[in-house]
Amino acid sequence: MIIAIDGPAGAGKGTLSKLLADYLGYPYLDTGALYRATALSFIKNAADPEDPTVAKSTVESIIIDMIDGDDLRTSEVTLASSKIAAIPAVRAALLDYQRKFAHRPPGAILDGRDITTVVVPEANVKLFVTALLEVRALRRYQELLDRGEVSIYDKVLTEIKTRDEQDKTRTSAPMRKADDAIEIDTSYLKPLGVLRIALNIISRRQKENFKILSL
Ligand code: DC
Repeated sequence: MIIAIDGPAGAGKGTLSKLLADYLGYPYLDTGALYRATALSFIKNAADPEDPTVAKSTVESIIIDMIDGDDLRTSEVTLASSKIAAIPAVRAALLDYQRKFAHRPPGAILDGRDITTVVVPEANVKLFVTALLEVRALRRYQELLDRGEVSIYDKVLTEIKTRDEQDKTRTSAPMRKADDAIEIDTSYLKPLGVLRIALNIISRRQKENFKILSL
């Protein structure tokens, strides 16, 4: 079973994906981290992301360990990741890895911006996780404080707004809710409440699939 989750920054996709991965025992791919690692690599090597050959070799050189580092969460890398994510050569270079990850048995959970629309539109379960802008900004702000970083709420709010705009309006694979994705608004929910809703949706989908198979 492939579970595809999209949504804007701070909506709770990552938290939900990790809980689902633990609960179902499926591997999880945070595709935002792939874009962040790619952006960091471009910054470090002063490479040209518009060049398809450079984009491809950069993506190939990203080791999976790299997609966990704290240096991927800085403001600079966050904004750069949204910028380079608009470049078709970068998206094309990352696509194959994501598709292969999704299709490995027994299944996988992937979250990002274009998972339900471009990476695996054939996913069994498609979710669009969202929340009010101010709630998302407050969560990010709190996250930064918890990590001991100096942070200003208004700055975090502006950064999230900028990224929302960039991610929604780019021409290549913009963030949007797939027609057949189920929306979950997490504004007033705790992580376990969101998990419960997602598990209900998954179990409904499994029953539907079972009915089709037994016809
Ligand atoms: O999920 P995140 O905030 O870590 O993602 C960082 C950036 O990467 C985000 O602003 C847009 C880009 N991204 C994307 O374009 N497509 C994805 N599937 C995942 C992330």
